[in-house]
Amino acid sequence: MSLILSKATKYIKSNFRDSSDLYRPEFHFSAPLGWLNDPNGLIFFQKQFHLFYQYNPYATKWGNMHWGHAVSMDLLHWQNLMPALAPDEDYDRSGAFSGSAIERGGLLYLMYTGHVVLADGSVTETQNIAYSLDGLNFKKYEKNPVIAADKLPEGASRSDFRDPKIIHHDGHYYAVIASTTHAQGQILLYRSDDLLDWQYFSTIFSNRPELGMMAECPDLFQLDDQYALVFSAIVGPDLPNAVYLALGDLDWSTGHFQLNKISILDQGQDFYAPQSFSYQGQRIMIPWLRNNDLVNYLSDEKHSWNGQMGIPRELSLANGALIQRPVLELGQNESNSPFSLSSKHSIFFLDTLILNSNSGLAVGDRLLLTGGQEKIELSRQTNSDYELNLTLVSSKRRINIMSTSDKDQVLILLLDRSSLELFIDNTGVASVVLYPERPWEKISYFGTSKFTGRIINLENIK
Ligand code: FRU
Repeated sequence: MSLILSKATKYIKSNFRDSSDLYRPEFHFSAPLGWLNDPNGLIFFQKQFHLFYQYNPYATKWGNMHWGHAVSMDLLHWQNLMPALAPDEDYDRSGAFSGSAIERGGLLYLMYTGHVVLADGSVTETQNIAYSLDGLNFKKYEKNPVIAADKLPEGASRSDFRDPKIIHHDGHYYAVIASTTHAQGQILLYRSDDLLDWQYFSTIFSNRPELGMMAECPDLFQLDDQYALVFSAIVGPDLPNAVYLALGDLDWSTGHFQLNKISILDQGQDFYAPQSFSYQGQRIMIPWLRNNDLVNYLSDEKHSWNGQMGIPRELSLANGALIQRPVLELGQNESNSPFSLSSKHSIFFLDTLILNSNSGLAVGDRLLLTGGQEKIELSRQTNSDYELNLTLVSSKRRINIMSTSDKDQVLILLLDRSSLELFIDNTGVASVVLYPERPWEKISYFGTSKFTGRIINLENIK
């Protein structure tokens, strides 16, 4: 173990206090101490799920990026481990940035970006490999970097070149990597036969306004009979970032992606840098619930942690439409409390709520969550349009959500202590981070018929 990695480990062990505060998530993953951003290296390896993440153990602000590490048997209960990677080599000394994982010959390989800020302020980013036999202790490859500036195509910037996501296809390995050319985002595809020797293969996606100034954390996977390219675009200095899912056909002989359709993945304002992996034929994605409302970043004085992941969601296509389903067993367990609400009636709860409705809202209906003077209101405006209004002491926000399904539009609502994820018929999805002044207390229904479903007890989720 390098000195820098053991310093981080010691620091975490001696500074961690069980800081359960009003905002500490109850069923979302958060790092015990310090700052967390992107999920990295998601994989099912040696009988457990691994979640690595961008991690600064030393502060509740971004910086000094390590790879944090947690494992789980069910994607809900996570055991946090000590960091897997530290910025301890020349080629990653300013940060071990985002990347992905893949298994080969019984070894777990991580591919990640080494971020280096030179004395003159200029930045170089390269791609690097670390590997492990047990999935816990990692060794960096002696011949890192495996992709450096000499393997960039013409015009590509050496300072914005990051977030490799590996995919295996037809006996070869490929990595999609975020890049820029002339201050515009593009996504590059590299190819390798052994994960160590890489060659530039193609510019798989470029010249699209959605790519913005930079399209971070690209992801490439098959969804039904199409390919999906997901990326997190930095659109402009004053605009919120957006995460897109592009569906199309991929010609593996040329590395050319033919776009069919492009859409925003999550209509909330705090969803970023998602990464997916495949498990038993399912495509599962975990996002970082990034708080875009910068004013409310948790401060060092009161909180010793900052950042949380979204609940894993399964992605699929139904008649060409994207379906996103939270991976929580929300089924008909008898001990989950059934409810039936008529207009103006309320259910009382404290702090957190997991609700799975089996009736939807009719046009004009609304749901109101309250705690003290703060409220969250969801109303259905038209057949396909919903409005989510958050009125908190610290912030006010309005979010429009579109659901493309023409079914009943049942709702799943995951309200944790500082986040809300809403799934409308699994087609209109919105994630938000919020910091209420006090715990939530009740949910009320205002409408013409009845709102019914089950409240899920956390213990009843597998
Ligand atoms: C996305 C991102 C990545 C980068 C990482 C650094 O949130 O900016 O592009 O690798 O975070 O922490």
